[in-house]
Amino acid sequence: MGVIMEDLAGISERIGQLKAQINHHNYRYHALDSSEVSDAEYDALMRELKQLEEQYPRFLTVDSPSQRVGAEPVAAFGVVEHPLPLLSLGNAFSRDELEAWSTRTSKLIEGEQLKFTCEHKIDGLAVALTYVDGQLSTGATRGDGFRGENITQNLRTVRSVPLSVGKGAPSRFEARGEVFLPKAGFQRLNQDREAEGQPLFANPRNAAAGSVRQLDPRITARRPLDIYIYALGPVEGGTIPESHWETLEYLKTLGFKVNPNNALLADIDRVEEYYKDWLDKKEDLPYEADGVVVKIDSFILQQRLGNVGHEPRWAIAYKFPAVQGTTRLNSIEISVGRTGTLNPVAVLEPVRLGGVTIKQAALHNEDDIRRKDIREGDRVLIQRAGEVIPEIVGPTPESRENPDREEEFSLLGKVKNDRGEPICPVCGSAVIKPEGEVMYYCSNAACPAQVQQRIEHFVSRGAMDIRGIGQAQITALLSEGLIEDVSGLYSLKDKREQLLELERMAEKSVDNQLKAIDNSKDRSLERLISALGIRHVGSEMAQVLAQEFIDLDDLGNASREKLISIDSVGPKIADSIIAFFGQEENNRIIRRLKETGVNPKAEKAESEKLLLSGTEFVITGRLESFGRQEAAEKIKALGGTAKDNVTRNTRYLVVGEDPGAGKLKQADKLKTERIDETAFLGKIGEG
Ligand code: IVH
Repeated sequence: MGVIMEDLAGISERIGQLKAQINHHNYRYHALDSSEVSDAEYDALMRELKQLEEQYPRFLTVDSPSQRVGAEPVAAFGVVEHPLPLLSLGNAFSRDELEAWSTRTSKLIEGEQLKFTCEHKIDGLAVALTYVDGQLSTGATRGDGFRGENITQNLRTVRSVPLSVGKGAPSRFEARGEVFLPKAGFQRLNQDREAEGQPLFANPRNAAAGSVRQLDPRITARRPLDIYIYALGPVEGGTIPESHWETLEYLKTLGFKVNPNNALLADIDRVEEYYKDWLDKKEDLPYEADGVVVKIDSFILQQRLGNVGHEPRWAIAYKFPAVQGTTRLNSIEISVGRTGTLNPVAVLEPVRLGGVTIKQAALHNEDDIRRKDIREGDRVLIQRAGEVIPEIVGPTPESRENPDREEEFSLLGKVKNDRGEPICPVCGSAVIKPEGEVMYYCSNAACPAQVQQRIEHFVSRGAMDIRGIGQAQITALLSEGLIEDVSGLYSLKDKREQLLELERMAEKSVDNQLKAIDNSKDRSLERLISALGIRHVGSEMAQVLAQEFIDLDDLGNASREKLISIDSVGPKIADSIIAFFGQEENNRIIRRLKETGVNPKAEKAESEKLLLSGTEFVITGRLESFGRQEAAEKIKALGGTAKDNVTRNTRYLVVGEDPGAGKLKQADKLKTERIDETAFLGKIGEG
């Protein structure tokens, strides 16, 4: 039966819509590291587009997002051309689809005995690492598959990326793998971002991409990134194994980290078992996996099968089902956060999702709720991405169309008093909204909700790490008047009798708690700065500050200019620090902390993670690639130092055009190693 004209117009229009939507999501995902839709929703759009294009090839255009591998690289990093494109993978969403793939492939290579490797599809970022003469020379993102970004300096800070490989490696080769942020690191990073008032990363992939694509490699170095290598790219000057599995074994012998959960399996039933097994166990993995990558093991067969577009016929991603469901959004309540933020919280009709019952979900702020058009009483689509607090994707289409929906959400409307003025729902103080911020705040620093959470934050693992004191205990201590703020914890040892009177407090637990409090006096300056809960100062920023200041007094006395002169401290952070130390209440707490023996001094910054830490350079003569000043900055950014004179501490003398005779002579005398510009570029990863 033919298709009537109107249908064709409709199909063309739908294809246009799908392309526009996918392009938009691609840009958010790859360029902004901040996607608005779940992987499942994205996959559904792409599937629909591919199906329509397959059915109506006349509408297939070369610029269709179905024909691309990813997004274009960002110019700031410099572009790396991939000598062999980094491919993408087709998906299977069910056992039937997996079997259809296996049948299709088997037919193409009839009579061959197939073996499959199975690997976890980790939610991270694909990278290509090029090694020349045993040394890591370039690290690049996948980008659009043909051209990626040069992120060598950042990848060098990932501890599991070998900077050099064992003898006997091919003279030039590329190792490909997935850089990722383990679940724990992802959670910590998001907690930090919350404390710093920055938007949260929606998933570990975005967080890994955001970490690896930092213009300042020192920031990357602070993130606990990891890598699993899953393939060899182009190889020169060496022979490679004949199968994928042997290649993975070979990569291990070169010093690469290969996922120990990979398996070589004899048939598709075993593949299904592997998938099912990990579907059950994936919550226990230290990283987020969104499926299993199934690859035909033999390279000869891989070659015979070839690719369709950017997807190899010899591999497929067998995706885990997205953990999604729908439920009713009963109401949106407002809770008060540690820094006084008024946080909207979704109260849901309890629903089981991925093995847990969900009653609440995070709603980030009023703008976000309005953008997603979420209203009380709606049926909403919710999803849980691994360990992340469940989030609301949006109302179901039926709810959106319901004529009797509640009004658009208004945060201030939720916290009005009898006279119609917005007030803090906990302490009744005025509500403020600082210019340029999306959050509303309770204006009263002594608000009980804030005080309680400040103490909870102070004792938490990432801060002063005082074990055995939890939320309930803090509530009790506050309500009994045993403490008023964090400094009070250190005077509790004089109140042992009163502590014993608290509910459920036996001698032993009181002693343990007092000991834990006492032990925390030795925590580092960095931890203490982070524990104070200064707005916009999370643990990463605390680390930066602890490297610049001797102690809390030194930080508290710093001028705005001094603060802003520190790399990665902007005006917003500087102002927040100044405001914190400008409050008498905070200074009183700091004084009392000092009196009770909490006054750590800075330890010498350990930046050994960086490539050139502890390496001193002297440059003499002109360099072709950049000026001396710029070269010095590059050395510094990698943790090294650049000096003007050759001394015993000088590791390398970089010799450019027209070098200074004095420096050469001094270097000879001290037997300092001389290197030319090319070698220097190699050392700073730009060779
Ligand atoms: S193989 C020839 N193996 O999935 C296929 N990819 O859509 C090339 N990924 O860009 C990729 N874990 O970011 C392969 N064990 C694994 C993987 C993996 C994660 C990602 C990778 C790639 C995407 C393919």
